[in-house]
Amino acid sequence: MTTARAIRLTEFGNPDVMRLETVDVPPPAAGEVQLRQTAMGFNYIDVYQRMGRYPLPSPTGLGFEAAGVVEAVGAGVTDLKPGDRVVYMNAGGVGAYADRRNVPADKVVVIPAGISDEDAAAVFFKAMTAQFLVRKTYAVQPGDIVVVHAAAGGVGQILSRWAKALGATVIGTAGSAAKCEAARAAGCDVAVDYTQADWVEQVIAATGGRKARVVYDSVAKDTFLGSLDCTAPFGMVVLFGAASGPAPMIEPEILNKKGCLFLTRPSVFPHNADTATFRANAKDVFDAMASGAVRAAIGARFRLDQVADAHRAAEARSQAGAIVILP
Ligand SMILES: NC(=O)c1ccc[n+]([C@@H]2O[C@H](COP(=O)([O-])OP(=O)(O)OC[C@H]3O[C@@H](n4cnc5c(N)ncnc54)[C@H](OP(=O)(O)O)[C@@H]3O)[C@@H](O)[C@H]2O)c1
Repeated sequence: MTTARAIRLTEFGNPDVMRLETVDVPPPAAGEVQLRQTAMGFNYIDVYQRMGRYPLPSPTGLGFEAAGVVEAVGAGVTDLKPGDRVVYMNAGGVGAYADRRNVPADKVVVIPAGISDEDAAAVFFKAMTAQFLVRKTYAVQPGDIVVVHAAAGGVGQILSRWAKALGATVIGTAGSAAKCEAARAAGCDVAVDYTQADWVEQVIAATGGRKARVVYDSVAKDTFLGSLDCTAPFGMVVLFGAASGPAPMIEPEILNKKGCLFLTRPSVFPHNADTATFRANAKDVFDAMASGAVRAAIGARFRLDQVADAHRAAEARSQAGAIVILP
């Protein structure tokens, strides 16, 4: 038996409900590996769960994503060995905010040489999200006009650069002039500040009046109705998050009135439910990193004992790029 420093919650609410505790870690069970975690990824879903908006049992850990080094393998694990560097995005549920953890071996992938643990932790969950969005939910084609909301954020930057690499014209939105600059640096052809009242008109103007084939909307409450207006006839609105709060209720008939639109609300986990698909999608992500279509853009680093500050920074929308948590 060894121990770990891990974030634990017994109640849900503001960032101070996250407590750093020392917990016991048993030897890895059959099918598990024990990781010494070297970098943890922050994802906005961590905020929804900490707030109680996405319910968790209590007490609970938090965090979906981390990179680390295999220190021990359980019975039956033959494809990993001590010393391997690995990353995961959902190793049997939350609990990634920790410096040591046992996880199912089939939920991790080896990090290719040339990609640091920090970059892997910063990118993996977010790039796996961008992967299904550009490949499966709407397969982006050369010449498509694509709108990406929160384009300066973690997923937003990756999604914008990947859609651009696939040959799309990418129009990003973001919450300030500085973030619009970050969105342009991440591959957006045009960036619109969606805190301005006329952001929908600006986006439509940027499309030359043609509107978008697909709008990727992770902001929801503040953007969803505008997203419907930015979408071309027969185009798709992809609602995949709710950073500003849940989207307003709509009558299905509105999709007809706005141009026979398609609306979907997908999630990364069902897209990676079986090991073979997960590993193939991970390879697609690492290939995209090698080609430059996906890049790690780390906006801030926090230590595990500063995780409340990491959440506060995310909720304050104070910086662009991904947040990484270090042990
Ligand atoms: N469906 C899935 O499977 C899946 C998987 C991963 C992530 N997601 C979603 O993708 C989105 C991005 O995730 P991320 O981890 O990369 O986070 P993030 O983009 O780094 O942070 C959220 C972004 O939302 C924008 N935002 C707009 N209104 C906001 C508000 N009221 N409060 C806070 N932020 C607001 C902020 O950008 P501005 O300041 O520029 O507005 C901020 O950059 C999240 O909504 C997340 O839930 C979905």
